[in-house]
Amino acid sequence: MNQPATPIDTATLDPLETASVDELRATQLKRLKWSLKHAYENVPFYRQSFDKAGVHPDDIQTLADLAKLPFTTKADLRDNYPFGMLATPMSEIVRIHASSGTTGQPTVVGYTQKDIDVWSDVMARSIRAAGGSRNDKVHVAYGYGLFTGGLGAHYGAERLGCAVIPMSGGQTEKQVQLIRDFEPDIIMVTPSYMLNIADEMERQGIDPHKLPLRTGIFGAEPWTDSMRTALEQRLGIDALDIYGLSEVMGPGVGMECLETKDGPTIWEDHFYPEIIDPTSGEVLPDGEYGELVFTTLTKEGLPVIRYRTRDLTRLLPGTARPMRRIDKITGRSDDMLIIRGVNVFPTQIEEQLLKIASLSPHYEIEVSRQGNMDTVLVRVEANHHDIARDPVACEQAAKELQHAIKTYIGISSQVEVCPVESVMRSMGKARRVKDLR
Ligand code: DLL
Repeated sequence: MNQPATPIDTATLDPLETASVDELRATQLKRLKWSLKHAYENVPFYRQSFDKAGVHPDDIQTLADLAKLPFTTKADLRDNYPFGMLATPMSEIVRIHASSGTTGQPTVVGYTQKDIDVWSDVMARSIRAAGGSRNDKVHVAYGYGLFTGGLGAHYGAERLGCAVIPMSGGQTEKQVQLIRDFEPDIIMVTPSYMLNIADEMERQGIDPHKLPLRTGIFGAEPWTDSMRTALEQRLGIDALDIYGLSEVMGPGVGMECLETKDGPTIWEDHFYPEIIDPTSGEVLPDGEYGELVFTTLTKEGLPVIRYRTRDLTRLLPGTARPMRRIDKITGRSDDMLIIRGVNVFPTQIEEQLLKIASLSPHYEIEVSRQGNMDTVLVRVEANHHDIARDPVACEQAAKELQHAIKTYIGISSQVEVCPVESVMRSMGKARRVKDLR
């Protein structure tokens, strides 16, 4: 933000990153045919589900034909827990990850060496799209472990030739110490944990604008453009959006480009996107909002065919790259709150509260039921101790937010402006909603 953006040398990009749309589609179709055959021949689940739908991989002769195939859901992955979805023998698998899963079984994924190479390449591509190069030091504060964030970022940064600082999540004071002493150029972390780190910098009397830190690669949870502005201004960095999910690969399925900052470019040469109507399952044209669905084109260990992400967004034409982009994810369909018939996403509330200068971006939403009525309580921290101590200022900010929520989202809510540091801090993905119904 403060620094001039380093122009990307297009000669250094992967050839497919800048291939024409026609070339890209031809590659996608070739790879799709391979991927469908691979899944059908090696994963009993896919053979059964294709057979049941009366479709054979040979029936798929165009990219649009993909719509003939059935969807795959998180429940299908769970039903085949732990290794039933693998398409290669375990001897070919070199890594296993699992997504935590708030309910029930975790979803397990496996990677061959080639998968790890592709993942490292798309992550390296992502860091490069953020203006990164081998000259950069990259602080990774995504969690290392079964979660794909830490190791995914790590391998990509190494592949690009960066100096990686594998800090992982947590130990916020130490995060700040390392950022101060090691002077990374890029940080990779969830946006909510970045806020937490920024607060700790403030506590330690460090002015982030004086640090060499230039870029944040933020993802793993929904965040708004208002949050981008808040992070950029507070830290003096470029804040860029990285998208991904473990079932499809991990971080680096899509990445926002520094020069346009207009939503993650999907690395379509490996991950084929569709948008569907979440109710009817019908494929929607580009530009229309719906649920994002992915088919992997090159994955060996655990191919996914028409995997329903439950993430709501739309596909947009390419800008910085010929590949398509996604709009910022509004939220997951499972995070959608239905409040007295109105669909509400936490990101909509985030957008409103960030407009109010006396409020901080630390918030949580409590939903409960009184009689037959759903009630919403937004607990948001005051931006400063002085505001938190002033009941009139708190009251005014609460009223302002309540009014904005009513006007722009259409629901009545209660707002509590609470003291600094009273809302639970995230060390990774933020939990914004407490549903007490
Ligand atoms: O969160 C992978 C990742 C790690 C992405 C680090 C980016 C950075 P999962 O734990 O499987 O994988 O969770 C995937 O997180 O379906 C979305 O709902 C959400 N998500 C991920 N990135 C974004 C983003 C990782 N940029 C789920 N914006 C996805 C909004 C995101 N939501």
